[in-house]
Amino acid sequence: PQVCWLAPDQTAGKQKPYMYTQGQAVLNRSFFPCFDTPSVKSTYSATVMVPEGFTAVMSATSWEKQKDNTFVFKMSQPIPSYLIALAVGDIVSAEVGPRSRVWAEPCLVKAAKKEYDGVIEEFLVVGEKLFGPYVWGRYDILFMPPSFPFGGMENPCLTFLTPCLLAGDRSLVDVVIHEISHSWFGNLVTNASWGEFWLNEGFTMYAQRRISTEVYGSAYTCLEAATGRALLRQHMDSTGEEHPLNRLRVVIEPGVNPDDTYNETPYEKGYCFVSYLAHLVGDQSKFDAFLQAYVNHFKFQSITADDTLGFFLEYFPELKEKGVDSIPGLEFDRWLNTPGWPPFLPDLSPGQQLMKPAEELAELWAADGLNMEAIEAVDIMAWRTYQLVYFLDQVLQKSPLPAGNVERLSQMYPKISKSQNAELRLRWCQIILKNNLEAEYSKVKDFLHSQGKQKYTLPLYRAMWGGSEAAQALAMETFSATAAQLHLNVRNYVKKILGLEVTE
Ligand code: BES
Ligand code: ZN
Repeated sequence: PQVCWLAPDQTAGKQKPYMYTQGQAVLNRSFFPCFDTPSVKSTYSATVMVPEGFTAVMSATSWEKQKDNTFVFKMSQPIPSYLIALAVGDIVSAEVGPRSRVWAEPCLVKAAKKEYDGVIEEFLVVGEKLFGPYVWGRYDILFMPPSFPFGGMENPCLTFLTPCLLAGDRSLVDVVIHEISHSWFGNLVTNASWGEFWLNEGFTMYAQRRISTEVYGSAYTCLEAATGRALLRQHMDSTGEEHPLNRLRVVIEPGVNPDDTYNETPYEKGYCFVSYLAHLVGDQSKFDAFLQAYVNHFKFQSITADDTLGFFLEYFPELKEKGVDSIPGLEFDRWLNTPGWPPFLPDLSPGQQLMKPAEELAELWAADGLNMEAIEAVDIMAWRTYQLVYFLDQVLQKSPLPAGNVERLSQMYPKISKSQNAELRLRWCQIILKNNLEAEYSKVKDFLHSQGKQKYTLPLYRAMWGGSEAAQALAMETFSATAAQLHLNVRNYVKKILGLEVTE
């Protein structure tokens, strides 16, 4: 069942069926026999026969179409089992760079090319400059059907992406930069167990923001990092800071599915820890050189945090001598093993120029009598998507707003309330629910019908289930209409939220 089989109406084109696999974390054991642990790496080859009119793609360094609709794939570099991936559907491709093409259903391929033409190579080149050679040959992208549960999945040579990223204005490229960053952190240097998942995701968040800083500058990148920090805040508020999953090194008992430990901590607390290591070094170019040496030293291996930190202290003997691993309150051991808010936060003040106006506007909208003159003086038409996202996160935090304010906000900013951008839609739906704006419930429903990404779906069901009777009814109605489209994992998580019985 973990190999996803989609009926035609679950695809964008609605003409032909589709299948794909999602290996991470421990799903590939139901796809082929394997040592399904990230501590074991191997090369692979595969021969795939598909019906007439279908194309197969895999996370492989080379592929060839033979007669009789047979595709032969080879991955010539050793990889862990979770990175083996296959998709079959009515898909076509278009070139977007010297080593990159986009794959998508025919009805999406034009939009996909437009969104990514020319930019992928720029990210790869910056990544290589920072972290060393890109060893995987090609970097292609496959746009998945709408029910794909993630924003992106870093299958080597062929990243899988949600079609939600086709925003039309390149505003959501941070996800692609993230998946590209896994080419070094995760796919080349791999966490040896899922309890050390932060090594994959924390280093990747750091690498993503390094590339983003080079390409888009520090103001924009700090703004994006601030929205990440807000997600970590929301997560820790809802679980309690002391929750055992709010540490970087997680204890996963036998029988526990690593996917059930998934949360923001490995990403954003991991990012803070790597930023802290950079802060200890004090010089960005020295830390960049360390990252490059680290990748080179551990490439094609699977390692633990002890390996990482041991290498760090060997690489900077003067820091080792100073005992930076045991500074009170900031001990490496505390970072790894104590749950809670990060003891060090990187300085995001370069983003202030973008964050401050958004914070001030949110203040205005949260006030009792609205100061329309001050509100109208702010021109949000010129704002970038992440600035709007940041604004909406602030509004959400202050919600419920005084009666009538959200309705006014909705009318005043169709750019937000009628947006087709998935990140904006998520926030707008959260605001609708937190303010119990029944008149706009249909937007929540439409959004959940249009896609099945886990990070969009679960927060909305949690908000509905924690809300009014009408919101709970909306949850039940929406779930029964969309359950069949959802990825099995996501469906089960939603069932848990709604108190329904989970089979399997
Ligand atoms: N590797 C993850 C997705 C994943 C994690 C799949 C755990 C299965 C189990 C991927 O690189 C990822 O982190 N995607 C994020 C992107 C975001 C942080 C920019 C996503 O999908 O939201
Ligand atoms: Zn990732």
